[in-house]
Amino acid sequence: MNFQLTEEHLAVQAAAREFAQTELLPGVIERDEHQKFPAEQIKKMGELGFLGMMVDPKYNGGGMDTISYVLAMEEISKVDASASVVMSVNNSLVCWGLEKYGTEEQKQKYLTRLATGEIIGAFCLSEPEAGSDATSQRTTAEDKGDYYLLNGTKNWITNGSTASVYLVIAQTDPEKKHRGINAFIVERGMEGFQVGLKENKLGIRGSDTHSLMFTDVKVPKENRIGEDGFGFKFAMSTLAGGRIGIAAQALGIASGAYELAVKYSKERKAFGVEIAKHQAIQFKLADMATNIEAARLLCLKAAFHKDTHQDYGMSGAMAKLFASKVAMETTVEAVQVHGGYGFVKEYHVERLMRDAKITQIYEGTSEIQKIVISRELLK
Ligand code: CAA
Repeated sequence: MNFQLTEEHLAVQAAAREFAQTELLPGVIERDEHQKFPAEQIKKMGELGFLGMMVDPKYNGGGMDTISYVLAMEEISKVDASASVVMSVNNSLVCWGLEKYGTEEQKQKYLTRLATGEIIGAFCLSEPEAGSDATSQRTTAEDKGDYYLLNGTKNWITNGSTASVYLVIAQTDPEKKHRGINAFIVERGMEGFQVGLKENKLGIRGSDTHSLMFTDVKVPKENRIGEDGFGFKFAMSTLAGGRIGIAAQALGIASGAYELAVKYSKERKAFGVEIAKHQAIQFKLADMATNIEAARLLCLKAAFHKDTHQDYGMSGAMAKLFASKVAMETTVEAVQVHGGYGFVKEYHVERLMRDAKITQIYEGTSEIQKIVISRELLK
């Protein structure tokens, strides 16, 4: 066992922290309030290599390990979870999915540009009637010989209007149930593809969440990912890694709120002393720090499993289940430590509290993580 980060890990962590403090912090409150996508910041994140961290350098990626990705996700999420969800979806759902399962042509055509952030990607599984029950896909992809005809609606799609490439899951053969599902690469400009309503959200308001409509979109056969019928396994396998990214996002939201609570408690005075001198506050900070450390270890362990080619389905689900709970609890307590100031926007903790909630919902709700974990335990 070695709990020491390497020089490279520390360098990635420091670079992400520096970027978050200098580039993401200014304007984060306004972007949240006005639901403004952090376009310039995302462009810079691409230039610095944060959008294709784990992709092989031969496809323009950073060639880094999952531990580096977790460390960077934590630092970015401490400050701006709207930016970190873009980073997470692009890295672990879109780039990873294409690198693992795409053809060489697909990688050359799409992955090389997604890894640098020249373009960004979206992952389209959820539908109005298929959230947790992901096999109930109503979007259809009819096999027409050399192309598929795509029809249907996707909901709550991160990077909905800003992506150029969309990985879309659809039902080709309903009789085969989940074994009749396929995954496709759909380009923004394809005829019949329309970006729908932008969601007005509780949290991660700077991220760009839309419904998408597909009406007789002709998707060339070469844009199918994997063999016919591989789409559901593609989605599940990709999400297993995605959950490590969201766990790290939740960890970052929690540790960002905790750091603000520590800082504030040393500045604010009540009853003649800094509130950090009161045991009521000290106990809250002790609980927060302990929970955060446990969440961090779960995230790093899941990343270690992925990097060492061990099964990471259960450890990733555990990391997400626990870190998202810690994010919710810690941010609520951080608001409490701040008292009235915590309830106003300038102090950041109310935003972190709103941002925390989604980590218990997307890329599989906490209840879905418990299904994944318990199935593995009872195998
Ligand atoms: N890797 C590969 N294959 C897998 C897998 C994995 N991790 N997990 C399951 N599968 C395969 C199974 O082996 C099975 O295949 P066979 O029948 O051929 O053996 C097939 O998938 C179906 O599996 P289940 O029988 O377990 O399916 P289920 O209907 O019971 O559903 C579930 C399982 C875990 C509940 C799944 O539906 C699920 O994960 N739901 C949540 C969906 C989700 O996470 N959505 C997130 C949306 S994306 C998002 O949020 C991104 C964003 O924008 C931030």
